[in-house]
Amino acid sequence: MEEQDQNHKRSRGRHYFAPSGMHDILPQDQNVRNYVYETVSELASDYGFGRIDTPIVEQAELFSKGIGTSTDIVEHEMYFLKTKGGEVLALRPEGTAPIVRAYTEHGMHVWPQPVKLWYWGPMFRHERQQRGRFRQFWQYGFEVIGGEDAAIDAEVIQLMSNILKEFGLKDITIQINSIGCSQCRPYYKKALVHYYRPHIDKLCANCRRRIKVNPMRMLDCKDERCARFKQNAPQIVDHLCEDCRKHLKTLLEFLEEISLPYFLNPYLVRGLDYYNRTVFEIWPQEVVISEYKKGEGEAAKEDNQQSQSRESPPKFALVAGGRYDNLVKILGGRPAPAFGAAAGVERIIYELKRRNLKIPEPRKPRVFLIQLGDLAKRKSLKLFEELRQSGIKIASSFGRDSIKSQLKLADKLGVDYTLILGQKEALENTVIVRDMHNGEQLTVQMPKLHDFLKARLSRRAKK
Ligand code: HAM
Repeated sequence: MEEQDQNHKRSRGRHYFAPSGMHDILPQDQNVRNYVYETVSELASDYGFGRIDTPIVEQAELFSKGIGTSTDIVEHEMYFLKTKGGEVLALRPEGTAPIVRAYTEHGMHVWPQPVKLWYWGPMFRHERQQRGRFRQFWQYGFEVIGGEDAAIDAEVIQLMSNILKEFGLKDITIQINSIGCSQCRPYYKKALVHYYRPHIDKLCANCRRRIKVNPMRMLDCKDERCARFKQNAPQIVDHLCEDCRKHLKTLLEFLEEISLPYFLNPYLVRGLDYYNRTVFEIWPQEVVISEYKKGEGEAAKEDNQQSQSRESPPKFALVAGGRYDNLVKILGGRPAPAFGAAAGVERIIYELKRRNLKIPEPRKPRVFLIQLGDLAKRKSLKLFEELRQSGIKIASSFGRDSIKSQLKLADKLGVDYTLILGQKEALENTVIVRDMHNGEQLTVQMPKLHDFLKARLSRRAKK
């Protein structure tokens, strides 16, 4: 209701705004996103992942069954829509359940196993807005379905970490834990409930409910009243069955083998119910260090203070994932163990900017085409296309007619040469080539223009 009022106020006077927590991506924002996309795409291919795209909407039940009915995502954060045929769909809040659905729907279990898939796309969660927490955000992610080996866990963690390194994001911490399996986890849950129950009156309302429906989520509660109990809570590593213990040990040995530093966090749990065994998150290192130096209560207080400042490290995970060996079966497929992870694109871009990391500029145009008059404009359209197709990076502005404004734009783009095509040149089949570095102008015959430009541009590139 409050949000409806807010949106109504914002829309007063026929001005409309993007929905809360959702953003336009303007031309000036595209370069950094393309850079992130290109980097991810290249590494995905190096590691042998095939790209998959799934619909933005799915049957809502896919998520309630897959992610879990008592999770924040399913309880509070999904966007629903009802079709005219009465079907209840949901905007996807994450990519794993849809990919598992696609694995079974397309009979991927008969493909050579494991099947390695990667994705890039928008996700939707109706969350409380905070820094780095949006209602529409992009994720890239990797899923490996059909393999139980801890080497798969290590490979995906390594890939995620290498992508961050490729961006220059070096001071990061990989937090790892095992949350066991259906054999050993019930004993741990019992131990947790036993530990928290005497303090139940001191816990937040959410945790008083969680103790009954999802006690492990209590370990992730940010409320100061609950967080202070975490440090003495029982640890799952002490309750793992022999197979889960062995799986964790093997994974840690792999990580040591590839010299990937990690931090074993015995209280790391995840907000989605499909996980078993390995769970991991990658965080900015400063946050992890500061959180563990202080008592949890202080950390929560500081979070509020720091969120006021633009320079403080953001308290959010950049990457998160884990093993989900039962999800394929839960969603109606033939059982297949799996592992995957996803990263938040906006969070990564935020970190690149906060750390002033270099973002490569896109290839700039080196030539600008100016046209003056109707005949020149017609000839320019053709000339532009010919030069572009021959590999010369050229720009123009057919919407502008004054030479002054076109020259100003050419100057702003920092091109090496400007081609000027006026009425006279159009009639004589020539073009004026202006060197933007020294102002020198030459008239060149149109048929010789391509070779002339290529020679000049390559000479300048060698300088
Ligand atoms: P998740 O932890 O919910 O896991 O999200 C993964 C990443 O997406 C987060 O670490 C964060 O960077 C980004 N993210 C999540 N919510 C938001 C938000 N509201 N605004 C901005 N960024 C956000 C999953 O989604 C799992 N499907 C990951 C996975 C893949 N597990 C196995 N395979």
